[in-house]
Amino acid sequence: MNVYEAVESRRAVRAFSDEPVPVEILERVLSAAARAPSSGNLQPWHVYVVTGGPLAELKRRATDRALAGDPGDEREYPMYPADLTSPYLDRFTAAAAQRYATLGIERDDPERPKKIAALNAGAFGAPVVLFCYLDRAMGPGQWGDAGMYLQTVMLLLRAEGLHSCPQVMWTMFRKTVTQAVGADDGRALFCGVAVGFEKEGVPHLRTGRADMAETVSFIGV
Ligand SMILES: Cc1cc2nc3c(=O)[nH]c(=O)nc-3n(C[C@H](O)[C@H](O)[C@H](O)COP(=O)(O)O)c2cc1C
Repeated sequence: MNVYEAVESRRAVRAFSDEPVPVEILERVLSAAARAPSSGNLQPWHVYVVTGGPLAELKRRATDRALAGDPGDEREYPMYPADLTSPYLDRFTAAAAQRYATLGIERDDPERPKKIAALNAGAFGAPVVLFCYLDRAMGPGQWGDAGMYLQTVMLLLRAEGLHSCPQVMWTMFRKTVTQAVGADDGRALFCGVAVGFEKEGVPHLRTGRADMAETVSFIGV
């Protein structure tokens, strides 16, 4: 698989099979992903790879919280700016409208937030979740580094025939996650990434993208 194919075929998969992921593949991917760039080569991320019994227990605890309507732990960083305006708000609304429809959660379902949180808490059935933490001392530049790192991980997973779903929703239950992985208090959870083989036969929608003219300006060409 070349890089274009990896980029093109990566998408947020929300239905995984329970086929286990060999640990050697995870080691190969995470070892290669360490080549991701970071400003000043700080490599500010720390990843906890959780699978097997500990992941089952974490999913159970997070799902219980979600189904109980738990609003989640106090956020350490806002998922989105409070005053999201156009064009971002339009893109967000369009994506939100279609995101969970294929999984059978309708827009007007009063239980929608609870169901979405519960689906996320089960990591969509993925047998592995990577939890990416950053040292609390890190600033916006290093959060950007962590994004580049995770995209590198997700593209390498494609080369191994695996899929992924980045999940900021885990930060809702960050205290439960931190207890499960034993992260020290100096680290803040950025997001989880569900990893596994895609479950076959589950319909999904291809998300759209803004026209290049909206997001790219060529100067001097
Ligand atoms: C940092 C980050 C956090 C995300 N958090 C979630 C999440 O909590 N739950 C979810 O279902 N999707 C999550 N997504 C996936 C996005 O919704 C998805 O990437 C976007 O809609 C584009 O779709 P695509 O990745 O399938 O192309 C997240 C993506 C990123 C980059």
